[in-house]
Amino acid sequence: MYKIVKKENLSTNIFSMDVLAPLVAQSAQPGQFVIVIADEKGERVPLTICDYDKEKGTVTIVAQSIGCSTKKMAQFNEGEYFHDFVGPLGQPSEYVNEDINELKKKKVLFVAGGVGTAPVYPQARWFHEKGIDVDVIIGAKTKDLIILEDKMRKVAGNLYIATDDGSYGFKGMIPSLIEDLVVNQGKKYDLIVCIGPMIMMKFVCIMTKKLGIKTIVSMNPIMVDGTGMCGACRITVGDETKFACVDGPEFDGHLVDFDEALRRQAQYKNEEAEKNGEHVC
Ligand code: FES
Repeated sequence: MYKIVKKENLSTNIFSMDVLAPLVAQSAQPGQFVIVIADEKGERVPLTICDYDKEKGTVTIVAQSIGCSTKKMAQFNEGEYFHDFVGPLGQPSEYVNEDINELKKKKVLFVAGGVGTAPVYPQARWFHEKGIDVDVIIGAKTKDLIILEDKMRKVAGNLYIATDDGSYGFKGMIPSLIEDLVVNQGKKYDLIVCIGPMIMMKFVCIMTKKLGIKTIVSMNPIMVDGTGMCGACRITVGDETKFACVDGPEFDGHLVDFDEALRRQAQYKNEEAEKNGEHVC
């Protein structure tokens, strides 16, 4: 059993929880994820690690209560326990093993869409702790859905906000802001790391391919069981078949077949909707 030591509501449907899981915290690295099982009848919910404190032994997760399982998780409070909390799983971000002096020569832009801001934070913090300034974009539909802005501001060199409706920061979609930064403001980036909804990652990759900037994406949104057994996260990367939960979750975004991944994601959404219609969450 894994104790929830802190719970915070970040926006209307998005919440964060610090969970006491010392062994997971000890070996967690940026880019990895955990599987949360709320109670003995709960489904496996794969969530990217948002933060970890090796001394306190806590791991921070952020989730949006949109499905049956995340709605159930949202009902848990501080002092209560999750049935299971497994991890860290998946491969760490590729730069974790890069030579630090080589990394210092690169200019990195992190792009976070909606709840994807949570997994971007530990990555930006990792760079900050090594004395490397990175730029960060946080994008959302509207101002109320921007999360973790204060925390991100402490670890980002430059923080840019974009909202679709223009209620805060740049008015427009994230790919337009990237184009504005690079083409109009003359920013130069060697690497972009983009985490968020699948459709946003697809259009960011179309833009960064045009601009000639290598882009890493996280295929976490397509995962189901997170163990390499259900096959739900099977994707095509270049001419290879990969499993997001085992080989990833991070891949070269210019090689990912997003249309195939979006089709598979839609298929599972329909099944979940049918299931939710049959059962009371
Ligand atoms: Fe089931 Fe990867 S999530 S195989």
